[in-house]
Amino acid sequence: MASPFLVLGFLIATCLVALASDHSPLQDLCVADLKGPLLVNGFACKGAKMAQATDFFFSGLHMPGNTSNPVGSKVTPVNVVQIPGLNTLGISMARIDFAPWGVNPPHTHPRATEILTVIEGSLEVGFVTSNPDNRLITKLLQKGDVFVFPVNLVHFQRNTGHGNAVAIAALSSQNPGVITISNAVFGSNPAIANDLLAKSFQTDTKTVNWIQSKF
Ligand SMILES: *[C@@H]1O[C@H](CO)[C@@H](O)[C@H](O)[C@H]1NC(C)=O
Repeated sequence: MASPFLVLGFLIATCLVALASDHSPLQDLCVADLKGPLLVNGFACKGAKMAQATDFFFSGLHMPGNTSNPVGSKVTPVNVVQIPGLNTLGISMARIDFAPWGVNPPHTHPRATEILTVIEGSLEVGFVTSNPDNRLITKLLQKGDVFVFPVNLVHFQRNTGHGNAVAIAALSSQNPGVITISNAVFGSNPAIANDLLAKSFQTDTKTVNWIQSKF
């Protein structure tokens, strides 16, 4: 007979695995009623009999994103907003385009682990573990390589090639969310007090004002 500790350990491990992604669905289909008045943790379902193939379909990931912007990258998300049939299923994807030396700036996904593959070019990728270690785990990826960014951790990608780079990512949430660190800290609305940021970043308010003006 299994010891109570083993059973407890197994239960805890099971819970942790389940908490790493969206909750499991309790029915075959729960196509999101994106415009419905009901707000739940996710979207309310349309009637299963009303589900159509188009509810589970998206076309457009063959199209390069427009990278003409200050960071030189563009994310094309395919989550529950684009595919209502993803509601409650705990999965989504994205295409990320990079101009030469373009970056997908440090950001986190509050609800998803990400697994990414390079389908064109090469990418420098990395994530940082939480305090107090803040260890940077980084790798140079070539076409066909796959890398994982654990849920919640700050991560980034940069095109190190001279041509364009393209990656496809899968995420363990129907709605992973994105918090871009620079936008959240220096581009919040309204702004975080510049003297607070100056002390936090061990710099002066002039420098903070200058950075805030970029976001
Ligand atoms: C790409 O974005 C830039 C900047 O917003 C814009 O000027 C340009 O017209 C866009 N290009 C295409 C092909 O949409």
